[in-house]
Amino acid sequence: MSRFLLQHLLIVLFISSASGCFIKNNDIVPPHSAPETLVEPSSLPSYLFWGNYSGINYLTVSRNQHIPQYCGGCWSFASTSALADRFKILRNATWPDYNIAPQVPISCDYLSFGCNGGDPMTVYKYIYDRGITDETCATYQAKDRDNGLECTRLSRCKTCYSNGKCDIPDTHLVYNVTTYGSAIGETQMLNALQNGPIACAMDATNEFENYTGGIFIPTDHEVVTNHVVELVGYGVENNTKYWIGRNSWGTYWGEKGLFRIIRGKDALAIEEYCAWATPDPVVKQVNKTLVEEKTVAELKILEAFERPEKAGCRVEKSELKLQAEANGYVIEENAAPALPAAWDWRNMSGLNYMSWTRNMNNPQFCGACWAHAATSCIADRINILRNDTVAQISISPQVILNCNAGGNCTSGDPIGVYKFAQQYGLPDDTCQQYLAEPVENATCTARQVCETCIPPPPKEGQTSNCSAITNPPLWYVGSYGFLAGVTKMKQEIYTNGPISCGIYYSKSFENYKGGIFSELTMTTKVNYEVALVGWGVNKAGTEYWIGRNSQGTMWGESGFFRIQMYRDNLGIETDCSWAIPNITRTN
Ligand SMILES: *[C@@H]1O[C@H](CO)[C@@H](O)[C@H](O)[C@H]1NC(C)=O
Ligand SMILES: *[C@@H]1O[C@H](CO)[C@@H](O)[C@H](O)[C@H]1NC(C)=O
Ligand SMILES: *[C@@H]1O[C@H](CO)[C@@H](O)[C@H](O)[C@H]1NC(C)=O
Ligand SMILES: *[C@@H]1O[C@H](CO)[C@@H](O)[C@H](O)[C@H]1NC(C)=O
Ligand SMILES: *[C@@H]1O[C@H](CO)[C@@H](O)[C@H](O)[C@H]1NC(C)=O
Ligand SMILES: *[C@@H]1O[C@H](CO)[C@@H](O)[C@H](O)[C@H]1NC(C)=O
Ligand SMILES: *[C@@H]1O[C@H](CO)[C@@H](O)[C@H](O)[C@H]1NC(C)=O
Ligand SMILES: *[C@@H]1O[C@H](CO)[C@@H](O)[C@H](O)[C@H]1NC(C)=O
Ligand SMILES: *[C@@H]1O[C@H](CO)[C@@H](O)[C@H](O)[C@H]1NC(C)=O
Ligand SMILES: *[C@@H]1O[C@H](CO)[C@@H](O)[C@H](O)[C@H]1NC(C)=O
Ligand SMILES: *[C@@H]1O[C@H](CO)[C@@H](O)[C@H](O)[C@H]1NC(C)=O
Ligand SMILES: *[C@@H]1O[C@H](CO)[C@@H](O)[C@H](O)[C@H]1NC(C)=O
Repeated sequence: MSRFLLQHLLIVLFISSASGCFIKNNDIVPPHSAPETLVEPSSLPSYLFWGNYSGINYLTVSRNQHIPQYCGGCWSFASTSALADRFKILRNATWPDYNIAPQVPISCDYLSFGCNGGDPMTVYKYIYDRGITDETCATYQAKDRDNGLECTRLSRCKTCYSNGKCDIPDTHLVYNVTTYGSAIGETQMLNALQNGPIACAMDATNEFENYTGGIFIPTDHEVVTNHVVELVGYGVENNTKYWIGRNSWGTYWGEKGLFRIIRGKDALAIEEYCAWATPDPVVKQVNKTLVEEKTVAELKILEAFERPEKAGCRVEKSELKLQAEANGYVIEENAAPALPAAWDWRNMSGLNYMSWTRNMNNPQFCGACWAHAATSCIADRINILRNDTVAQISISPQVILNCNAGGNCTSGDPIGVYKFAQQYGLPDDTCQQYLAEPVENATCTARQVCETCIPPPPKEGQTSNCSAITNPPLWYVGSYGFLAGVTKMKQEIYTNGPISCGIYYSKSFENYKGGIFSELTMTTKVNYEVALVGWGVNKAGTEYWIGRNSQGTMWGESGFFRIQMYRDNLGIETDCSWAIPNITRTN
């Protein structure tokens, strides 16, 4: 038996009784055993926080490894999240964020142990060797190769179709790192943090699990490194030095998902083993045929299938519209503010207010375009109202499905989402992971709104021990309604942020790859929903809308599109809706 297998066996035996998610792989020797530049801490700034670096937030969206079932994937979350943030730093926080997929190493990194735990360094080695994809290619499912999500040719990137089958998209994006290494001890960690967040092993004690805020100073002394977190900064307060960390336990934990812990004392063994990686600015667009050539021999082949036409996913529920109208939720054309020739919430003098890009058809097909368009508009508008301060907001589209708030995986109406948000509020994505799941009993139980799950990771076919998070943080909208016509649409986008709009979903729109889309169709019956985030005009004088689709970064212009204004535009100016969020998060 090889040393590696033996180690695996011993580890599996060991972890069957523990609940940790950190397992060091001593065989990994990273290219660097310390940060590339090392200076004395005294010559470094005394405060650094990547969530507010000179007023700019460089932290991507926060995650929750514990849903939809328990999975000890902290090692993958901490390392992919630190890398995503380093990409954001590299790109000066410009659109788009690269949300590196934690599910890929959990299924495919054989140097770690999936939901039973692993080493953040193996993730960086995996990325360096193979590259990695983003969340829209590989939605987190909290499963690994031992309980239902083995590494197949579809593990790295897939999208799904209305016939229920999934395939590698024609092209998709692959991200890489140029090098990686470790950082051990306060001085090395401080140095590594100058380049961006790092992933550090630690002991997640019960006391730490109970943390709700402030600078954590542990009382326990025995330590077992069993967890991995992202460190995103450091500081000093009342003469107490601290680290600022980000956990992968949802935004309902700690300080909105973040925490502070005393620094320089190796508290909870947090200063013993950290990993960092340098993002590669070159993002490759990979052609499906290349993926298949490379991996066909080693991986399973799905039977060939005819790609079906994608279905529409938007219906109008006239009772909702009538109700909105009765409540006076109709935008009047104002005495127009002077509208600029171009406006783009992805780039307001360099600042990007977009929440992350989603793929409604991953891990399975689900016609939830209406839910995605509406939740992304609410999240983007919260980012705008909060001046893009930490942390990135994401509103859960799965909760919309679980609560039947406007529709289901067949179709729905965004007005239903806004109405629900006004009455009951909506939680962050970290309360309910998006699974594209057509919920059989969408009854909005407390668990369907917000949940967490505890160890152990369930075996295939078993259920995880999950329970509801009571009184989860919620976001409300104050008012909502509908509008139509170029001037009102521009006014609303300009004043308040992105709006959701119905379109006719044509074959050529489905196949859109980039440029300013224009198509004269005989029918423009609305049957699909997108978000509009701005407008512009090209050199030839053609005015266009800038929109967001919910079919992943592999669709269109990194998930977005431009479409001609005024005509030949699939009816995009006929049926739009909006909502004004309240930026006070409850709890
Ligand atoms: C960000 O940091 C600046 C100082 O650099 C501070 O004035 C500002 O209040 C901070 N913003 C937030 C949202 O904490
Ligand atoms: C980020 O800003 C730096 C310094 O201003 C600049 O050199 C670099 O090109 C910018 N990168 C991107 C992707 O905008
Ligand atoms: C990632 O980048 C490194 C360093 O440039 C390179 O050696 C490696 O081949 C790249 N990996 C992939 C999968 O492209
Ligand atoms: C954590 O909180 C639970 C529930 O409030 C409590 O029973 C437990 O004693 C706490 N544990 C520690 C170590 O503080
Ligand atoms: C620092 O001291 C001030 C004043 O006593 C107190 O309000 C604050 O909460 C302290 N900060 C921390 C992190 O304990
Ligand atoms: C992918 O590669 C094949 C074969 O080289 C080529 O025919 C096809 O046009 C490429 N597809 C895209 C979308 O680039
Ligand atoms: C963002 O907008 C600025 C003008 O405000 C422009 O100079 C810059 O090129 C734009 N960036 C991108 C990536 O389009
Ligand atoms: C956002 O910035 C504006 C203008 O500087 C300011 O009035 C507003 O209070 C800020 N909002 C938040 C939540 O910081
Ligand atoms: C989805 O909602 C529509 C309209 O309410 C309904 O007709 C359809 O049966 C629902 N589909 C499923 C799978 O529940
Ligand atoms: C859905 O609800 C019905 C009636 O309450 C119940 O019989 C059925 O078992 C439930 N199905 C699931 C999957 O919970
Ligand atoms: C789930 O966890 C709770 C709290 O630890 C425990 O009381 C309960 O027995 C567990 N349920 C199962 C089915 O293991
Ligand atoms: C936002 O919510 C807070 C807390 O629930 C409430 O006090 C406030 O009035 C709301 N603001 C608006 C504009 O609705």
